[in-house]
Amino acid sequence: MTSEIPNKRFIRALGFRFLTNFYDFIMAAFLSKNFREPLINRFNIEQKRVLDFGCGTGETAILFKKSFPKTVILGIDVDSQINQIAMKKIKKANLDIRTTIYDGELLPFKNSYFDCVTACLVFCNLISLDKKKSLNEINRVLKTEGQVLIIDWEPHGNKIKRQLIKTIFSITPFHKIIKESSPQLPHYLKSTGFRNVEEIFRLKTMTGLLYYYNAKK
Ligand SMILES: C[S@@+](CC[C@H](N)C(=O)[O-])C[C@H]1O[C@@H](n2cnc3c(N)ncnc32)[C@H](O)[C@@H]1O
Repeated sequence: MTSEIPNKRFIRALGFRFLTNFYDFIMAAFLSKNFREPLINRFNIEQKRVLDFGCGTGETAILFKKSFPKTVILGIDVDSQINQIAMKKIKKANLDIRTTIYDGELLPFKNSYFDCVTACLVFCNLISLDKKKSLNEINRVLKTEGQVLIIDWEPHGNKIKRQLIKTIFSITPFHKIIKESSPQLPHYLKSTGFRNVEEIFRLKTMTGLLYYYNAKK
């Protein structure tokens, strides 16, 4: 299910439209191939319905569907271009995953619909106002006791590298996010009503640190 939804505010997966077609290739070159797997280890298999928020090319949704074939997986994103890529990959893999696009405002699902929401490298593409708005929406569509599993990225811990990355990013569509000295994601999770917020894993990469979070509604 796709249609062109005008949303001028979102930041594309890698900042620029022309890079979207190379997203999987670039991610494989910069990150370890199975960097999403720690999420799988923390998934509560009793859960029946999962939303992959900001599903991009569908990598996380595909990983979850292959790992938990009986679980219903839906993906949602704001970018119709990247969603086309996801749909092609899902079809090729012959998997039963539905992806859709929306305008980045209200998620098109009723309250308490999902048992789990995953979001891999999405919050690092959002300005703080959108982080809050998205977490409020995720909270709304999650059942009570529902789980969120998140991977977030931050520039490198080393001061010099961090400054270098910030300088590079300041001339890309990520400049607004880089300018904000916003708190880490646990702060937003707690302030939008999530409980038992825990960092479950941390991975050092060439460009920064990946933080893995698990929380409950
Ligand atoms: C870096 S990509 C990550 C894609 C995928 N989750 C993965 O693991 O590869 C960030 C994704 O978030 C999407 N995105 C940006 N703003 C969004 C929003 N407000 N709601 C949902 N998705 C959003 C982008 O279109 C992009 O596909």
